[in-house]
Amino acid sequence: NSINKFIEYIPKAELHLHIEGTFEPELMFDIAKRNQKKIKYNSVDDLKNAYNFNNLQEFLDIYYAGANVLIKEQDFYDLTWAYLNKVNQQNVIHVEIFFDPQTHTDRGISFDTVIKGIYSALEDGKKQFGITFKLIMSFLRHLDEDSAFKTLEEALPYKNWISAVGLDSSEIGNPPSKFERVFTKAREEGFITVAHAGEEGPSEYIWEAINLLKVKRIDHGNRCLDDETLVKKLAQLKIPLTLCPLSNLELKVVKDLKDHPIVEMMHKDLLVTVNSDDPAYFGGYMNENYQSITDALDLSKKEITELVKNSFKASWLPEEEKEKRI
Ligand code: HPA
Ligand code: ZN
Repeated sequence: NSINKFIEYIPKAELHLHIEGTFEPELMFDIAKRNQKKIKYNSVDDLKNAYNFNNLQEFLDIYYAGANVLIKEQDFYDLTWAYLNKVNQQNVIHVEIFFDPQTHTDRGISFDTVIKGIYSALEDGKKQFGITFKLIMSFLRHLDEDSAFKTLEEALPYKNWISAVGLDSSEIGNPPSKFERVFTKAREEGFITVAHAGEEGPSEYIWEAINLLKVKRIDHGNRCLDDETLVKKLAQLKIPLTLCPLSNLELKVVKDLKDHPIVEMMHKDLLVTVNSDDPAYFGGYMNENYQSITDALDLSKKEITELVKNSFKASWLPEEEKEKRI
């Protein structure tokens, strides 16, 4: 139908995407085979059947297990290249993506291997498809401050390749305050900061991300609606929220997409964007996220256009590039 075509063809930016979360089962089996690594599941179908999550942690356990088969620079290249091919077909023209170095360095893969594979694919995507990009290094919040500091040290030689640092993984019990000193150091080194907050965790974690980590965007942020003062603050400071509808549905952050707060948030003057988070696990890339939220909430072309414009406003593209899109 015409609204789906509209979604497909309109140029978009993706701002909340974990590259490890784009690992499609078929590619996972291919890479496992060439690296002679075992997968717990016998087939692509068996693996896909395991994608049935009651909360964030159940997803994370499977997500980290999947990443185990990534060993060589070529593996990280292939992973990233597959994602870029996919979004290129969906008219995504700019991406700001997360990678989780500790997921790999903790199992003996070098930081250099990870970032070189990802970065060279991003450069090739820019050359071949014209997709511009920013890279965000995300700390795993279930690990300790020392591990995050060590990761930051490893990133310093690649400062020119990494725009920002972020915070992801198990939210409840791992508040932003745990990483205040790491984020202060990261800012001193010139990195922008963002953090996942208020996905499962309370609105207080969003306050901490703003006040202690000085974030420029909140990833997810659904729970801000529990606190009217916070909503006003986010609107006043124009701090974007990178929302992920299908992720919210699959991780039971919302019971039904009809309950998704995206429209309520727009009415409260929040700068909200639509993103795919971990598309290989949650059943859809950018267009499927736009389409399912459009179906559930009966969004108009005008509302979709506003969301798309928001994706450029909230991006870190140079001002003159943004102007063309908004
Ligand atoms: N939340 C927290 N950590 C994550 C996510 C998420 O949605 N995706 C990948 N790591
Ligand atoms: Zn995320």
